[in-house]
Amino acid sequence: MPPRRMNNHILPRPRRALRPEDEMAVDQKEIKKATLTIGERILELPLITGTEGELGIDIRKLRPETDGIMVNGHPVKGGVITYDPGYKNTGACISQITYINGEEGIMRYRGYNIDELALKQYRFIDVAMLIIFGELPNTTERENFRELLTNFELVDEGMRKFFDSLPPNADPMAILSAAIQCSSLYNPELRAIDPADDEDFTLAAAKLLSKVRTIAAFSYKYSIGQPIMYPNPELDYCSNFLHMMFSIPNKMHIASNMAVDALNLFLMLHADHEQNCSTSTVRMVGSTKANLFDSVSSGISSLSGPLHGGANVEVIKLLQRVNSKETTIEQLIDDAKNKKIRLPGFGHRIYKNYDPRAKIIKQTVHKLLQEFNQEDPLLEIAYTLEEIALTDDYFKVKKLYPNVDFYSGLMLRAIGIPLNMFTVMFAISRMAGWIAQWREEMLADPAIQRPRQIYTGPVERKI
Ligand code: CMC
Repeated sequence: MPPRRMNNHILPRPRRALRPEDEMAVDQKEIKKATLTIGERILELPLITGTEGELGIDIRKLRPETDGIMVNGHPVKGGVITYDPGYKNTGACISQITYINGEEGIMRYRGYNIDELALKQYRFIDVAMLIIFGELPNTTERENFRELLTNFELVDEGMRKFFDSLPPNADPMAILSAAIQCSSLYNPELRAIDPADDEDFTLAAAKLLSKVRTIAAFSYKYSIGQPIMYPNPELDYCSNFLHMMFSIPNKMHIASNMAVDALNLFLMLHADHEQNCSTSTVRMVGSTKANLFDSVSSGISSLSGPLHGGANVEVIKLLQRVNSKETTIEQLIDDAKNKKIRLPGFGHRIYKNYDPRAKIIKQTVHKLLQEFNQEDPLLEIAYTLEEIALTDDYFKVKKLYPNVDFYSGLMLRAIGIPLNMFTVMFAISRMAGWIAQWREEMLADPAIQRPRQIYTGPVERKI
């Protein structure tokens, strides 16, 4: 088939849709079913295997097959459900985008280890294309996609009224979520894209990736009362962002190569992380067939929480409290062990080992500060905090290691990014993953996400 053309651009090669047989990617030589006994009923449930050998029990038929079974002498109305608050053991989809092995601290985008992508200095746009379209781009694909990003980097001038209506010091993360949705109102065609149409999807993906960066920088400028800076089409993705953040009309900011490289690395490492809370939010909203823009703007809201992307802000606040002698590391460790606080930047639902992203960022912050000839007292505090936590039995037994957010804020500080923009930086990057995950879901034509519950309220009563 000849490559599809659009405005003289050859489109990147999108990944095929998921097929039912993807659930059986690995040869199932031995165990094919799990056996479940409920009351007098013995059920055989099929197993699903991933390409890395992960095993899941397929419970899709659990309810219909247990409808009316007798348990403790009573028939179960409608059938049995599973109970798993926080979905700690529940697979909500099958996916081909990101693989994480939390026990061994491995993370891969489309099969490539992030350490290798980082070592070979891939740029954020390469990695975003890998995540969104399934393959690393060749030179032509990269250049064509970059051109699209440049073409779409402006936001509609009508959006200035939106920004003008905001109070001073408004939180850029809240602005970002609202502004992404608002921007799609100026491009109504984006609200009705056909996810199966490669051209529609590529344009929407490029618009979102490009505009999120502009909107993020505008949000910051509005939040500090400075005039907005328009994007510069001559600059690459990261340099352009730093220009929009730090230039002022009478003084252009030219970002150093070190700052640009560090920002590329930061964005690359945060670009996707399988079914984390914000991605699951995007998929949940998307399962109603909500459009891409509405779905990802919900993802931004979800990311803002301190247990998720907002943790990068909490870490810095905590290190600052130690630095100003408001508290001590020992006190924080005690408070964490006594369940008074959750130590931000520690622990992870999936990683029961060092988060591989945190490892890379930790090494980079140190180098970055050296190269900038800067010192950050918070880095020493972070090192000491990590050292004490990792030798403490509480953290050892619970396998609580630094996660990506523990050192990422220090890296952003070194680049000069202000604290209220940290989670926004995470969102710019995660946009790539949300776009890819939304499309994967749309092409798999999922059921609407609608969990069940175990009701424990009053039984029927009369008024
Ligand atoms: N400080 C102290 N104790 C902790 C922490 C922590 N940061 N994290 C988990 N624990 C304890 C928790 O109290 C529980 O103890 P127990 O077994 O006695 O009840 C045990 O470890 C297991 O925790 P959990 O609640 O089952 O873990 P979870 O998978 O539900 O939560 C988490 C994961 C990331 C929300 C949690 O570790 C946490 O709150 N960390 C701090 C916030 C943070 O850094 N978030 C960023 C996550 S990484 C980036 C991202 O995905 O956004």
